[in-house]
Amino acid sequence: MLDKKIANLLNEQVNKEFYSAYLYLDFANYYADEGLDGFAHWYEVQAQEERDHAMMMRRYLIDNGVRVTFGAVAKPDKTFAAAIDPLNAGLEHEQYVTSLLNAIYAAAFDLRDFKTMQFLDWFIKEQGEEEKNAEDLIKKMKMFGYDAKGLYALNQELAARVYTPSANAPAM
Ligand code: FEO
Repeated sequence: MLDKKIANLLNEQVNKEFYSAYLYLDFANYYADEGLDGFAHWYEVQAQEERDHAMMMRRYLIDNGVRVTFGAVAKPDKTFAAAIDPLNAGLEHEQYVTSLLNAIYAAAFDLRDFKTMQFLDWFIKEQGEEEKNAEDLIKKMKMFGYDAKGLYALNQELAARVYTPSANAPAM
């Protein structure tokens, strides 16, 4: 049985992960409208990963006897003036998610809930990778994205992203 505080924090995080998926699909909507289908595809894959995160947490809660409840998913409310804007918003969002996961980890540590800490280890590592991916995208965009040929090539590169569920990820 999980401590009520941990159960509530993780249940809230399920909602935040679904929101992340929704947010990244909103980024994809923007890029699709701009004709940058590779960028749109990249964020569609990212949205799939976020849904997976929500499902892993949902499974963990269920497997620990918690009745999962769903709240409303917030409306993405960002507006973009340039192709780099969603990339910057993406990094900012991942930094926010890292702070949320760190807070849950800290709560689990305080309660000596070693099982949840172990469960969260995968997410902590994943956040490091997601922040790096977001930073790399911004760097590439700054280097190549302001020239038509460079933007075309970058769009092609992002179109090649393949969704692959992580082999050692928690069950969904
Ligand atoms: Fe679910 Fe992008 O972290």
